[in-house]
Amino acid sequence: MKGAVLEDRGSPTRDRARALLVAATASATLMALIYLGSRRLEHYDAALFGYTVAGVIAFGVIIFRYVIWLHRPATRRYWLRGWQLFLDRKELRRSLQSIIGTAFGNLVAQRFILRRSRTRWLMHALIMWGCIISAAITFPLVFGWIHFELEGARSYRAYLFGFSTIAVDGRSTVGWMTFHALDFTAIMVIAGCAIAIHRRLHDRGAVSMQQFALDFAPHLLLIAISVSGLMLTASSLWLGGYMYSFISLTHQALVIMTLFYLPFGKFFHIVQRPASIGIELYQNRGGEMLQARCARCGTEFVSQAWLDDLEDVVRRLGFDYRLKNGHALQDYCPRCKRILRGLAYAALVQRSDRR
Ligand code: HEM
Ligand code: HEM
Repeated sequence: MKGAVLEDRGSPTRDRARALLVAATASATLMALIYLGSRRLEHYDAALFGYTVAGVIAFGVIIFRYVIWLHRPATRRYWLRGWQLFLDRKELRRSLQSIIGTAFGNLVAQRFILRRSRTRWLMHALIMWGCIISAAITFPLVFGWIHFELEGARSYRAYLFGFSTIAVDGRSTVGWMTFHALDFTAIMVIAGCAIAIHRRLHDRGAVSMQQFALDFAPHLLLIAISVSGLMLTASSLWLGGYMYSFISLTHQALVIMTLFYLPFGKFFHIVQRPASIGIELYQNRGGEMLQARCARCGTEFVSQAWLDDLEDVVRRLGFDYRLKNGHALQDYCPRCKRILRGLAYAALVQRSDRR
């Protein structure tokens, strides 16, 4: 693999202009899809205009931030390497195996969180799946991509982009579960956030590092959305619609705040994390490439391409880890790096003892 293939230095102004263009195109495409998917707004509910505006803007801002993030030296390098390896036709089967394995292990089953603790895994699974399922239900409804029509006395037929799909008996168990799906996801999200807040209030490591805006605001927003959603159900089921429009406005305001918070705070990891698939592909395939040997012990410890990329990224970021012997710190395996650090500390102590 030649580093030259990846050269595209860019400039901050050009990067921003490019990101703005991509973001504007993404928002415009979403608007066109809303128009077409709702059959020229025939199935679009004007009362949900606020959600739509927030969704379209937040989508554009997320794309903008994502593109800017991709322009950073390290992200750009590993992103392009991931695609380069994926597009290598000769190894397509093995690349697909690696991608499916990472997608299942890291994105779906989240085994790396399970390694930290079962409670943390449960916390994240409840929040993540609660939010994913809620979004999968609400966005298509808000954008008019899905709508229901009464069929006969008690059945509802679901329409996707205006095309007829399944009919659900409103009084059957499946019907009840379908129409109350958001209540289940609300309970999942509240439970997950409760576990997260409990950990943040009791775990000493977390207590020392956390900040309110970064570590508590996301949970509080999610809990507020879920509680206001449950209050909507309670209002319509048991209170004859008491305060329904006020609660509905509150739910909408909270959702809009969260959508605008998405690109800036903790939630941005939702779109950032899947990019790790490319990095894992590079690591997995790195084993077959020419290996770099440690400058001290001679052990093969990483692919030469990975090491060259790392040195180049570090240089571009303005760091210089070259040592007096002509090698860079990155040329040593992790074990020897620790030994070198230990020797450097010991030399310092000896020097100060001599004085
Ligand atoms: C809709 C999707 C997602 C939502 C709503 C979400 C939400 C959250 C929240 C609220 C936290 C903070 C928990 C805390 O207080 O400690 C968190 C942590 C985390 N998230 Fe996500 N997340 C999502 C998707 C993902 C994905 C796809 C990944 C990676 C593949 C991921 C990886 C992580 C990791 C590693 C942590 C730290 C967990 C820990 O403390 O052990 N998340 N997520
Ligand atoms: C954590 C995520 C969310 C949860 C747990 C949640 C929960 C709920 C619940 C329980 C309801 C009441 C359903 C009923 O009574 O049948 C509801 C209603 C609603 N939600 Fe959400 N929601 C979430 C996110 C969203 C998002 C992202 C949107 C917009 C894109 C949205 C738009 C709506 C709308 C339009 C209604 C109906 C409100 C009305 O009748 O005025 N929700 N939600």
